[in-house]
Amino acid sequence: MKLKTIYSCQQCGFQSPKWLGKCPNCATWSSFLEDVISISSEKKASLQPARVLTPTSLAHQTTQFARLQSNIKELDRVLGGGIVKGSLILLGGEPGIGKSTLTIQICNRLSQYFSKILYISGEESIEQISLRAKRLSISSEKIQLLNETGLENILATLEQEKPDFVIIDSIQVIKLEGLNGSPGSLAQIRQCTETLMKFAKSTSTPVILIGHVTKEGELAGPKVLEHLVDTVLNLEGDRYQHFRILRSLKNRFGATNEVGIFEMTENGMQEVANPQAAFLNQHDEPIPGSCISCCLEGARVLLVEIQALTTTTVFGYPRRTASGYDINRLHILIGVLQKHLNLNLLNQDVYVNVAGGLQIDDPASDLAVALAIISSFQKIALLNNALAIGEIGLGSEIRPVTQLEKRLQEAARLGIKTIYGPCIKKPAQFSGNYISLKTIRDYGTSE
Ligand code: TYD
Ligand code: MG
Repeated sequence: MKLKTIYSCQQCGFQSPKWLGKCPNCATWSSFLEDVISISSEKKASLQPARVLTPTSLAHQTTQFARLQSNIKELDRVLGGGIVKGSLILLGGEPGIGKSTLTIQICNRLSQYFSKILYISGEESIEQISLRAKRLSISSEKIQLLNETGLENILATLEQEKPDFVIIDSIQVIKLEGLNGSPGSLAQIRQCTETLMKFAKSTSTPVILIGHVTKEGELAGPKVLEHLVDTVLNLEGDRYQHFRILRSLKNRFGATNEVGIFEMTENGMQEVANPQAAFLNQHDEPIPGSCISCCLEGARVLLVEIQALTTTTVFGYPRRTASGYDINRLHILIGVLQKHLNLNLLNQDVYVNVAGGLQIDDPASDLAVALAIISSFQKIALLNNALAIGEIGLGSEIRPVTQLEKRLQEAARLGIKTIYGPCIKKPAQFSGNYISLKTIRDYGTSE
């Protein structure tokens, strides 16, 4: 076996025989680190005598996976019905978002099935973890703590202890001593994940790996990790807001793009009882600059309050700021409003905010954003608890959105009386006041 030095980008995994200052693949600066790989000294691989294998018929396959329900409903939902035995789950998120809190709570719930759960932390001391557990009133004989970063030691311990469920907090601090490179480097992360995957599969033990997200919002070494694991979950939210969204980015055992909604409270992560309305502020009086939007998050309909504020620009260029909404989309909407409604926003700063810290990318919320801006600019409130659904095109046309019936049903259930929506026959599912708009210009003339 021969060793060879290569350099690989820690962001995207691009490999180069020389050190490079900037990655030609993902354009990140100073991301190259040295890796040592082994290459076979035999240049030409000789063909080995082959065996004939027997394929199995698809019809004889059982499609049921053994799943364990954590009884944290929002988590089970995101996982597609529970934790699958022998699966390797990567839980990513920004530091401080609540990954360790959620996992220790999962351990607590799973301790009803398992006799031994091993929580291996390379980041925090045993005291820190126990302090958190105490805060959450978790104390179980069955949850064992370990503070270790060497994977060889971890594997030996796993072999000896034979736990039923394993947590590794976090993959970025775990190191294979026999491998070059510092913890968190691409080669280490890849090798450690592969080794843990083998452990999970060979012993049918579910393993959760915690992974930190870099400030660009990607899991460190994102591409290498994502294809190695069975499931990728991401915990999102604003650290200064209480809502957290658990999203599945990849799931070999269920649907992706499912979301679970949690709230970070004094007593850890709590499931939100009525997530459909969690992001909805109910105002006693209608206020200018507020409109309710109806977004799809995975299979779930969420009603969200969109707030907009327009103020006269004091100096220089008008400012446009969006939190929770795509800024480029906001520029387009402002362009449409200026051109087609003659709304003079040229000397107006425009701020848009999605209440509750949710990040929305459903185009169906365009109309709500536009109406909130118009409402703030004209200082006229929309009808109280009016909801708007529709994607706005460049020609100011309002397009129908996916799963409109489902959205209307949910809106009706949550007591919405008026809906502004795309021009269709009044849907049977909605008994309230449906105002159909063909273009955004119709707004204001339609009543
Ligand atoms: P933590 O789970 O340590 O985050 P991560 O592992 O993702 O880095 O949680 C961090 C924050 O959560 C911390 O700022 C304190 C807060 N927190 C609560 O608000 N309530 C609680 O019950 C707990 C345990 C933590
Ligand atoms: Mg942590």
